[in-house]
Parts: sequence; structure tokens; C-alpha cells
Amino acid sequence: MTLKMVAVSVGRDMKPPLFLRGMLLCLLTALTGLPARAQAPAKFFKDSDMMNIGVYYYPEAWPSNQWPRDIANIKKMGLEFVHMGEFAWAFMEPEEGKYNFDWLDEAVRLCAQNGLKVVLCTPSPAPPAWLVKKYPEVLMVDAAGRRMEHGSREQASWSVPRYRDEVEKIDAELGKRFGNNPAVWGWQLDNELSHYGKDYSYEEGAQGRFRAWLKQKYGTIDRLNEDWGDAFWSQMYQSFDQIRIPNPEELVALPNPHAQLDFERWFAQEAADYLRFQTGVLRRYVGRRQFITSNFMNMHSQVYPPLNGADFDIITWTLYPAHGNVEPELLGFRLGNGNEMGFMHDFLRNINGMEGLMELQPGQVNWGEVNPLPYPGAVYMWIMRAFAAGSKTVCTYRFREPLFGNEQYHYGLVGTDGVTPSIGGEQYSQAAHDIAKLRALYNAAAQIPKAYDARRVALLYNVENRWDMDNHPQTTRWSSMGHVLKYYGAAKRLGCPVDVLTEDKDFSRYPFLIAPAYQLVDAKLVARWKDYAEKGGHLVLTCRTGEKDRRGQLWEAPWAGPILDLIGAKIPAYDDLPAPFTGKVSAGGKSYAWASWGEQLEPASPETKSLAQYSDQFYAGKTAAVTRRLGQGTVTYVGVDTLDGDLETDLLRGVLQEAGVGTANYDAQFFVDWRDGFWVATNFTSKDQPAPVPDNGKLLLGAKILPPGGVAVWTE
Ligand code: GAL
Repeated sequence: MTLKMVAVSVGRDMKPPLFLRGMLLCLLTALTGLPARAQAPAKFFKDSDMMNIGVYYYPEAWPSNQWPRDIANIKKMGLEFVHMGEFAWAFMEPEEGKYNFDWLDEAVRLCAQNGLKVVLCTPSPAPPAWLVKKYPEVLMVDAAGRRMEHGSREQASWSVPRYRDEVEKIDAELGKRFGNNPAVWGWQLDNELSHYGKDYSYEEGAQGRFRAWLKQKYGTIDRLNEDWGDAFWSQMYQSFDQIRIPNPEELVALPNPHAQLDFERWFAQEAADYLRFQTGVLRRYVGRRQFITSNFMNMHSQVYPPLNGADFDIITWTLYPAHGNVEPELLGFRLGNGNEMGFMHDFLRNINGMEGLMELQPGQVNWGEVNPLPYPGAVYMWIMRAFAAGSKTVCTYRFREPLFGNEQYHYGLVGTDGVTPSIGGEQYSQAAHDIAKLRALYNAAAQIPKAYDARRVALLYNVENRWDMDNHPQTTRWSSMGHVLKYYGAAKRLGCPVDVLTEDKDFSRYPFLIAPAYQLVDAKLVARWKDYAEKGGHLVLTCRTGEKDRRGQLWEAPWAGPILDLIGAKIPAYDDLPAPFTGKVSAGGKSYAWASWGEQLEPASPETKSLAQYSDQFYAGKTAAVTRRLGQGTVTYVGVDTLDGDLETDLLRGVLQEAGVGTANYDAQFFVDWRDGFWVATNFTSKDQPAPVPDNGKLLLGAKILPPGGVAVWTE
């Protein structure tokens, strides 16, 4: 499909300043506080819309006489919202205290005129040159002690009070100016919070806030020494003032793992605190009339979205599935990894019930080591995978391919001429039209199919486990997220709907609960697991679970002491194999390969059954997985991590079947999900796949045989 774009041209000049109106509004807001309090929370995302599709646009980077044309073309493509402003601080505040939002007003006006909603951003990731020149203390410092100067982006530290003051001022001005503008739908804070490829910031502001956090947490230095195990290598501190952020460059060695774990906790909380601080500033002016979110990064572990669950109206994130990444599937480098993105959708959706993509790759990117073209149809498939997962938004970075700057070669929805739709642009447009078609069939009363719901899986996730295992992996062949994704992928191969839950959520109503490699536990969590199984739940725990307490210390007890009664087995030994060796484990007459983690289990109660056994190494015949009944339910423990996740899938299938629940049998990376009355199949594999459309099913989109990158949507 080719779109014909309109070409409109207007004068280059922007509208005259509207600061008087802004000032009046600000005065009113300050006097009455009304905008923040007068209204009940608005419902930003209409159920019947299901999902809205939008795009990033940078008016500040294009001549203003092209804006009307570009914005009209966005509308013409079928998109519904426009995202602007996250790097535009220098245009919003060209000199300290002198604000200029007229240009943004005009861009917002053009969007409104075209019936497009607007997502505005706080420009905090791009402090202007004048700011960092005047206040160099705001600049972040990397592990090697290098200060990040002006000339790139995301160069400031959120822990520096001066920086927060500057951010507060610009956010407040934006809020005053746009908080009552009905065209503005919502706000994104900052951009992909992290320190832009520079990891953590080690400047003095951060050092001080870390120390203050430790003092608050521990009260006395003795307690800190105990929890950090500082008796080891005589790392004892005499006072909090002696502590610095664990930094391998300063230490010239590996940091204390308990100090590192605390630092990671602090950093994630500091990032969340910074977003909360910006939320607070904006809420003063936008109240609940406009939504607030930030765009979290895919699979990123340093910043933890659940910490902002109560602050944000929706949790959004950024996704670039094909950037030269090699996946097990032949075409994976063009199609991306469906387990990864599925996990993220199912994780972020469960934080506060609203999830959406704020950036989705529109085509080739520029920042991978190699940047291949996505497979034909892949962009459309990613959008539809988001739809299937219940996403409320899909927004793409970006409308126009940039002609200058660091992201040359990065595709947009239109090419370098500014008007011709790119391959991805056509797919976005197609998706927008198809979603509109599905909307016409939206049925608010649609009920989740019973057989599908009966196999609903809760997957328990806590980033602290990932931090701790990554700090101390024991073998370089271990991948914490790789392990979690094996179980996610196993559930999807069996056709299960999955909710990734954090511990604060209630998992008791799920028939199946998987806690993969849940290394850090306490008695309360183990008691919840036990209670869950006793009341009829089917619990699956996997290797490395329960090895440590929340401080990251091993138990003064048999290995993984707190879970042994629960699983009905002991874990006298674990093994890992150096490359290129692999070990064998067999179950149900099939053989599977493993290499990274293999626990030898010893069934310790009469009801414990061995499900899998090692079939080579000097411990051939020893048990690798067990299951038992407990009260009304079951507990299964899988002590081995296989190469491809097949054993994990087969054992999980067994758990579902024993529970009398039917399963599907899809290939890895082929997904079938249900949303709002629609079945959606997406094919991330490298071969054709049949969509399980029943005889009475009505195919609405795609075909019954899906090629790689294909999508089918049907109703029953
Ligand atoms: C994202 C980032 C965007 C843009 C994009 C390019 O990670 O948030 O600002 O740089 O990558 O693909």
C-alpha cells in the first residue's frame, strides 16, 4: 500500500508569544490549586479504542513551514497521537529563565487541528549548554572519574540538587503552559531513564545520597558491617562517611556483593524518586487531566518500573527488536525475540494495569553493531504482538528519518525526502487501519475463553534476584534473564496467558505459579508459596531458588534450607560445565542438554517423585527435577537449566496435564494470545505456522498459514 501525502506550505514564522495567557493560567493555578484537585481521575485510555497508535515528531528540528504538511501526513497515515519535546530544552529555555513555548504551542495547535492527540515530554535528558556551563556540578561522572561534558545527551545527574531545581523550573513552566490544553493527552518524563550508556553516575551528589540512604536503612554502622559481611577481608567501616559507591574502577577489583546489591537497590530507588519528583511538579499543573508516564527500557535492569507504579497512569517502554541481535531462530535477527517482548508486555501491564509502547522501531536502526533490515512484515507483527498483549499505546520513534545528528541512517515512517512512507511507515499505517477495523467489532462483553483462562500462569519476578545472580553468577554460561525467559517461553508454547507479577501482588488466584531462579527469599515468601500450594495451586520452583536471604547471604543451614521442606528434597550438590561441554538429562524417555546449572536432588519425602535424571557425568542417575503433592496442590522443583528450554516446557506441560488442564503445543516463538474478544497469532519463527483457527472461527486479518513475520486475527 502506498500513501499519497499532502504537501502544504506555510510561512516559516511561528505564532507571536502567548506568554500573557500562560502567566494568567499560572497565577490561577498557583492561587487556587484547582487544576490538580478539582477533578476525579480521568480515564485516559478508552476500553473500546483498545490501542492507540502514535509517532515521535521533532518540530524544533524541521522548518516550521513543513510542520503543517508533516502533521497532516501523520494523520493521513491513520495515526492518532504525536509525541514531542523530550530533547527540546534549549528551544524551550534558550536563556536562563527566558522561556519560549510559542513554537510548541503552534505544533500542538496543528496536531489538534488535525484531530491528533499530543504527548508532551519534560526535556530533562537534554540540559542546554548554558545550564551546564553555569552549573557544571550537575554533570554526571562515570566509573573512571570522567565528567560527561555537553555535546551528547543525558549528561546530568538526578542526584544533584541544582539539577533537580533546574528541572523543576522547566517542568513547572511546561505544566503552566500546557496543563490545561485539551489537545495534550499526556506526558512522558525524561527519556529512557539510565545514564545513556555510561552506567551509573559517581559524582559527589550521588555519593552523598547513597550514604544517606544507607544510614537510613541501617541506623548503625555495625548493622551495615554485619549485613555486608564486612568481616570478610576486613572490609569493616567505622562510619558511614567512609563509604563510597562500589566502583570496580576505584577498587580495581570486584566490589563486595552485598554492598553492590544495596547500591543497585539505591540506584533504582533514586531513579524512581527522580521520576516521582518530576511527576509531583507536573501534577501541580496538569492534575489528573493528562496522564503521566516515562519510557522505560526493554530488559533493562538498573531502573525498575514497579517502583513508579503508583506514580504513573500508564507504564510505557521502548522496544527495538532487530538491531543486529542474533537469536536462536534463523530469522531472529530480523524478527526479534518474541519471548523477550512478550515478557515485558506481561510484566509492565501488571504493575498498575496499564501498559503501552512509547517507542517501537519503525525499520532499520543506526546504533547496533550491525543494523539489518527487519523482515518484511516484522514491524506490523510487533505492533500486533503489542495489541495481543493488551497494550494501550504503540508509538514509534520517529516520523521523519533524520538528515543530521547522531541518528542518521535510522528509519522513520517517512524517508529522507520527508514525505515518502518507508517500508515501516506503510506497516504502521496498515496496523492503524487494521486496529480501527477491529475497533468496529469491539465487544465490551467479550469473556476470556474458559479453556485458555484455565491455564493462566503467574510468573513471579523480582529484579533483586537478577542483580544478585548477575553479580555472582558462578558460571559465565548462566543467564538470569535467559533462565526466566525459558519459563516464560515454555508457558507460551503451551498456549498459556501469562501475568508477570512482583511479590506485592496476589498470586493466590492463579492456577499455576512459576518462580524461576528465585534466589533471595525470606520466611514470609516461602510461607506464601506453601499456602498457595496447600490451597490447590500448582507451584513450580527452579534451580538457584532460596539459596540466600534478602541480604544476599547464604543460609547457615543445608543448601537452600528454607525451601527444602516445601520441595520435599535436598540439594546436596550443584554443578556447572565449562564450554564446550554439555551434560545430558533425561525425562519421559527424551534426552536434553544442559551446561549452566545442574543441581543433584535427593528426594526426601515419600511423596516426592523424581521427574528427570542426569544421564552422564559421574553422577548419572541422580535426580534433576522432582514433584510432590502438597495439600490440594502440587510443588514441582526443576534443578537444571537446559540449553533450549525443551525440558522446562515438557515438565511444565506435565504439571498442567496432572492438574487436568489442556495445553496447546506451539513451536517456540509462535504466539497465540486473546485480547478483548480477538485471537491474535504472531509468527516470530523462521517457518510457516498454522493458526489454530477453529472451523467456526472467523478470520479477520491475515491468513490461516502464517509466514515468518505473519499475523492472523480471528474471532470464535
Ligand atoms: C531510543 C531512545 C531514542 C532514540 C532511539 C533510536 O533508545 O530513547 O531517543 O535514540 O533509541 O533508536
